[in-house]
Amino acid sequence: MRTRAAVLRRPETEYEIVDLEVLDPGPGEVLVEMAYAGLCHSDEHLRHSNPGGRYPIVGGHEGSGVVTAVGPGVTGVAPGDHVVTSFLPACGHCRFCAAGRSNLCDKGATIASGKLPSGTFPFRLDDEPLGGFCMVGAFAEHTLLSEFSCVKIDPWIPLDTAALVACSVPTGWGSAVYSGGVRPGDTVVVVGLGGVGANAVQGAVHAGAMNVVGVDPVALKREFAESVGATHTVATAEEAVGLARQLSRGTGADVVIVTVGKMSADAMAGAMSCLGKGGTLVLTALADRPEEGNVSLGGQLATVFEQRIQGSLFGSCNPFRDIPMLLRLHEEGRLELDRLITKRYSLEQLNEGYRDQAAGLTVRGLLEHSRA
Ligand SMILES: NC(=O)c1ccc[n+]([C@@H]2O[C@H](COP(=O)([O-])OP(=O)(O)OC[C@H]3O[C@@H](n4cnc5c(N)ncnc54)[C@H](O)[C@@H]3O)[C@@H](O)[C@H]2O)c1
Ligand SMILES: [Zn+2]
Ligand SMILES: [Zn+2]
Repeated sequence: MRTRAAVLRRPETEYEIVDLEVLDPGPGEVLVEMAYAGLCHSDEHLRHSNPGGRYPIVGGHEGSGVVTAVGPGVTGVAPGDHVVTSFLPACGHCRFCAAGRSNLCDKGATIASGKLPSGTFPFRLDDEPLGGFCMVGAFAEHTLLSEFSCVKIDPWIPLDTAALVACSVPTGWGSAVYSGGVRPGDTVVVVGLGGVGANAVQGAVHAGAMNVVGVDPVALKREFAESVGATHTVATAEEAVGLARQLSRGTGADVVIVTVGKMSADAMAGAMSCLGKGGTLVLTALADRPEEGNVSLGGQLATVFEQRIQGSLFGSCNPFRDIPMLLRLHEEGRLELDRLITKRYSLEQLNEGYRDQAAGLTVRGLLEHSRA
């Protein structure tokens, strides 16, 4: 069928809104009419460089929608079901899925190209096959997904807030709870308080942290972080160093979570200087280009202070377990989702939405596909 989507034709360009073809679902595939898509910063990295991937590509990976058709053999979802996209497919059977680490599922190997596990590219633009970012392509009005990327949710859950639970919420929350292993009484520093970092604050609070220090140069982000449980906020990591030391009675932060928009050597150095004895540094942020994420470490200090460096993909969450669980926490009034959405955009306004993000005007922007 024909659909509309935001496509990046080349790096360093803006999204172009185009008509293109989305394929019918093959075995194990699901056609979804997308309702909402969050404006995650990872799509901004895609706009600058797509290592291991290819252009053109349909952007968007943080979405929600309704199943309209399924291919042969699909058993997990049926037409009419509401789904949240998982930007990491989970097959359930590979070694990592079997061990409860489905964020590292082997089927995720082609997410940069958007090629589905079946080997199919879901879209065609002027007869050229193309993929959707993270095998999702949430900036398309209709998209074709692997069944492994479709997490069914209860039909009464509003699809707008549900979209955020596709990436920023579990990534941030899990960066604190799972990747960082925050424990009751801990002092936690979250560096970068956007869509992901605000949820790292919520995760740290849930895990029982005594002090949650949020760091962001933008006042709006700091105010929001305080409204979801940050006990202190500051504009720079330099200010957080002394604060973390004082709050922990001299030892430094137990967990520091790096959720800045762009990973950099500076951001890493600032975060590392907040980290205390026995502490864990969680690296969640990505860079525009992989080499810009190369960072240096105080190796000697890490040795004598027994510090850990922990990478975090999707907050070490398991999509089919944690997406429904986080939505349940929201239903019970224990997790803020609604206020994370600062502003809504139509597909045509997508570039404006990312300009607003860069200007620090939104905690999370949301693309509303039905918006005129
Ligand atoms: N590892 C994963 O699985 C995963 C998943 C989603 C997003 N990400 C990455 O996480 C990062 C955050 O994503 P987001 O959508 O929240 O981005 P965002 O743009 O919404 O938020 C980033 C925040 O960092 C702040 N910031 C920038 N430089 C800073 C600095 N030096 N110190 C403190 N704060 C600073 C900005 O003001 C902004 O509020 C991005 O790099 C994104 O690609 C990783
Ligand atoms: Zn994301
Ligand atoms: Zn797997």
